[in-house]
Amino acid sequence: MADVNILIAFYSRSGVTEALAAAIAEGAKTAGGEVRLRRAREVVSAEIMAHAPGWAEAAQAMNARHEAPTSADAEWADAIIFGTPTRFGAMSSELKAYIDGLGGLWAQGKLNGKAGAAFCSTSTVHGGNESTLLSMYNPMAHLGLIIVPTGYADSSLYAAGTPYGASAVSYNKATPPTENDLAVARFQGRRVAAVAKALKAAGVK
Ligand SMILES: Cc1cc2nc3c(=O)[nH]c(=O)nc-3n(C[C@H](O)[C@H](O)[C@H](O)COP(=O)(O)O)c2cc1C
Repeated sequence: MADVNILIAFYSRSGVTEALAAAIAEGAKTAGGEVRLRRAREVVSAEIMAHAPGWAEAAQAMNARHEAPTSADAEWADAIIFGTPTRFGAMSSELKAYIDGLGGLWAQGKLNGKAGAAFCSTSTVHGGNESTLLSMYNPMAHLGLIIVPTGYADSSLYAAGTPYGASAVSYNKATPPTENDLAVARFQGRRVAAVAKALKAAGVK
């Protein structure tokens, strides 16, 4: 049996955030985590998606790899790690729709004391990595999660990422996460799993 249950709930339209999610999962598993990797679904119509070439196809391919996140996944988890591409400097509506759907668990206090963390992707270097990560901190605080930042707690953070969470710059989706980005993501997975394990053992609410 795994030491801790980790839910990685992310949205990704073209695969960059998905690649970070996979590296976080890898890190969490090496720290004894059982991982559920889940992709939030689109909230816009097929007609809108058709305006962006490749969107529908990429969504279909990612959905075949990842189930949609559910409330049951959040309840199961000892840690929830949210990931999103930036949308004008904040999280995507697709991820937000999933988070808003956790209201029922919030009302019952069922998410209190779980570890929480965030990761993201932007197109440009100053295109909103940090503000997007912090936009996920807001609901995490309301949900009662114990927010676990990356800090500079690993040497990988001096080469990539942010102290708020793992990140990648895609240069308009042309560039997948670099090895340095992935090293931060793996560290984030390990760190969140370790903190979640300690919170669980201490019975923190
Ligand atoms: C509606 C919309 C808004 C965006 N806003 C920003 C932005 O403010 N800053 C930025 O750098 N990239 C922005 N992007 C680009 C994506 O966040 C970026 O390409 C990201 O790496 C894609 O990740 P994904 O492959 O996981 O979907 C935006 C994209 C869309 C479609």
